[in-house]
Formats: sequence, C-alpha cells, structure tokens
Amino acid sequence: MKVWAIANQKGGVGKTTSVVGLGGLLASQGQRVLLVDMDPHGSLTSYFKYNPDEIEKSVFQLFQHKGEVPLDLPRHLVIDTPYNNLSFLAASTSLAILERQAQNQGGMGLVLTKTLNCLKQDFDYVLIDTPPILGVLLINAMAACQQVLLPVQTEHLAIKGLERMMRTLKMVMNSQKRELPYTVIPTMFDRRTSASVDSLRILRNTYEGHIWPSAISVDTRFRDASKAGVPPNLYEPGSRGVKAYMSLLKYLLGQEPIRMDSSAVP
Ligand SMILES: Nc1ncnc2c1ncn2[C@@H]1O[C@H](COP(=O)(O)OP(=O)(O)O)[C@@H](O)[C@H]1O
Ligand SMILES: [Mg+2]
Repeated sequence: MKVWAIANQKGGVGKTTSVVGLGGLLASQGQRVLLVDMDPHGSLTSYFKYNPDEIEKSVFQLFQHKGEVPLDLPRHLVIDTPYNNLSFLAASTSLAILERQAQNQGGMGLVLTKTLNCLKQDFDYVLIDTPPILGVLLINAMAACQQVLLPVQTEHLAIKGLERMMRTLKMVMNSQKRELPYTVIPTMFDRRTSASVDSLRILRNTYEGHIWPSAISVDTRFRDASKAGVPPNLYEPGSRGVKAYMSLLKYLLGQEPIRMDSSAVP
C-alpha cells in the first residue's frame, strides 16, 4: 500500500483538488484507492456530498481510544463513493476540537498509521488530505505517509506559505528521524500572467530536484467537477487540467523521464 500526504499550510492552493484529481485517476486505472480527509473543514467530505457538520462516521472516532485503534473500526468507517475503486474516510467538524484536546494527551501521533495498518489488504493507494494548520492531524498524516506532495499556487504569497510548510516538514523529519521524499507541485498556473510565470521560475530555482517539472494550469472545470461531486477525470476526461494531473501521476509513478519541461514558461 502506497501512502501519499498532500500538504501545505496555506489554504486554497489545490490540496483537495489534487487528492481527488490523482485519486480519481488511480481508481480509473484499477487501483483500489482510499482518500482520507484530515481537514476539519471537510472539503473532501463535502466534495462527495456528505455534510461534515452532521456526519457520524468520521476520522474523529479513530482518536477517541487513547491513541489506540480498535482493529475493526477503520473498516467500519470507510465510505464507498459511487465511483469504482474509490472510497474515503470522512472528516467531521468536530476534528477541530481534537486539535485542542490532543495537545494535552501524548501518544496520539500514530493513530492514522495504526488505522492504515488495519486497511492495508483493502487498498493499493491512500491519499491524505491535510489541514492548513500544524497540529496533531498534520503530524498524523506525516507519520503515516511515505511521501509528501506539496501543491503550491503560482503566485508570490503562496511561495511564502510554502517556505513555512518546508520548515514544518524539516521539523517533522527531524523528530521522526527519517527522510520523507517530497515533491512541490505548481498549481493554478496561468501562462498569460507575469506573476504566474515569475513564480514558477522562482519555485523551480528554489526547489530544484524536488519539484515536478511541469505545472497544473488554471482550469475552471475543477470547480465545476467539485460542484457536481464527480472526480475531475470522470467529469471531463479531456480537459486541460485532467491531462496535467495525468502527466503528474505518470511522473510520480516513475513512468515519465525526469526533465525540466520548459513549455510551461514562455
Ligand atoms: N488548477 C486549478 N484551476 C482552477 N481552479 C482550481 C484549480 N485547482 C483548484 N481549483 C479551485 O480552487 C479552490 C481551492 O482549491 P482546493 O483544492 O480546495 O485548495 P485547498 O485544499 O488547498 O484549500 C477550489 O474551488 C478549487 O475548485
Ligand atoms: Mg482543502
């Protein structure tokens, strides 16, 4: 089972869209995919038309057992989407309380790791959507994953936000005493604006060797797909954005040669 965490402490950079975008593609390729919503906002949960304010089956329940996870609980919490091979663990807004509670209780950092252990026969890929705050939920995601994807909007403020995320990531790697491979993913790229083009250049210089050589372009179809509650690749398979996520997925799976794609920068 491969586990990827999608993280950035800035909101609105394309985390949830990347989770559903990549997860939808993997599921269409026949991989059994589990998406995990660790964000108290529950955007991923809302994407699939569940209400995070009311939902009872959620990751919140996993944290109610003093850091242990009853063996049959994870399977009980998995929700199937209407789409083949695509399931998810929902977030409820009560997760926000947990961030505060868990500060005072040790031993809560491996709850998600233990949860996924119970599910490793059931899924090939797990994609974790994370909250924009450094707390017990983000720490759980970092502990459970084998690599981190860092979507970043191609604009100047977002680059500052990414610097903060990188400090967090290094801190987590230090405390967990392991190297976590990470890939920066430029998103919402608009080749017509100099802000976008400049930002992409800066990102490529700063994160050389750790950045996907292309970029996800701005595509309004993502918003439409999200409104419809359908993974982007099933909503409009031929759209520019879906093609970009296909190319990203190939890169992540090691099927695409690693080279700088200069086509994104005029
Ligand atoms: N490449 C893109 N082009 C246009 N809109 C996008 C793109 N990626 C995401 N969006 C939209 O931007 C908003 C924020 O994206 P989202 O994935 O929810 O970010 P995050 O999870 O980091 O907060 C959503 O409305 C989403 O539909
Ligand atoms: Mg989100």
